[in-house]
Amino acid sequence: MKVFVTGVIIGIFLFALGIVFYFVTGRASASVEDKPLPFERTLAHAALDARIKKDMPTSVPIAADENAYLAGAKVYQEHCGICHGLPNVEQTPMAKAMFPKPPALFKGKGVTDDPAGETYWKVVNGIRLTGMPEFKHILNDTQMWQVSLLLANADKISDAVKQQLKPPTPGGPGVPVPPIGMSVPGKPGRVPINPHASPTVQ
Ligand code: HEC
Repeated sequence: MKVFVTGVIIGIFLFALGIVFYFVTGRASASVEDKPLPFERTLAHAALDARIKKDMPTSVPIAADENAYLAGAKVYQEHCGICHGLPNVEQTPMAKAMFPKPPALFKGKGVTDDPAGETYWKVVNGIRLTGMPEFKHILNDTQMWQVSLLLANADKISDAVKQQLKPPTPGGPGVPVPPIGMSVPGKPGRVPINPHASPTVQ
């Protein structure tokens, strides 16, 4: 019996050592294009699903109507489209370069099969170790419900809402960053960088 217990303890120790060795010697997946680790997706999703089931609100404090969808579309266009894509628009190269990839929320069924409370939880808290940010310090509670209700009903939105989800027009609302060297107000001592300039050989 004593030998058996010692064997088990040594076995557990060697197994833990093997895992540490795997990670510290650069063998584990770490870059976007690496293969997922064994069970990575399953374990991550099991943890997320359990947490959401425990925490998500079951009732929605605002009405799911056209006004909510329109306001939600404005939030989506400004804060989410860059990663999750806009209706009938190819996802951005940045979105395609991520791991895990942000799902296109206006393609296929998106998250229309999830309760709005589940999407709200993800928007409020973000999803750890993915590119999904938490928005509780960026949006107010009503805005987070509006965008969640929009996504829960993404398959039945009106033309007015679709219009609000169009890509932002140059100079219009939702254009986040002006191109480098154009309308950025100059700061004393700062030399504008021209991204297309070729290096000059002296
Ligand atoms: C910087 C990129 C980025 C931004 C901006 C972003 N997300 Fe995400 N989001 C992600 C990624 C990556 C995932 C995938 C996480 C995963 O695989 O578990 C995700 C997942 C989600 C999911 C879960 C999808 C599913 O199939 O279960 C929802 C819902 C969501 N995001 C909503 C939003 C909303 C709403 C906004 C804007 C308020 C937003 N996201 C902004 C990157 C982003």
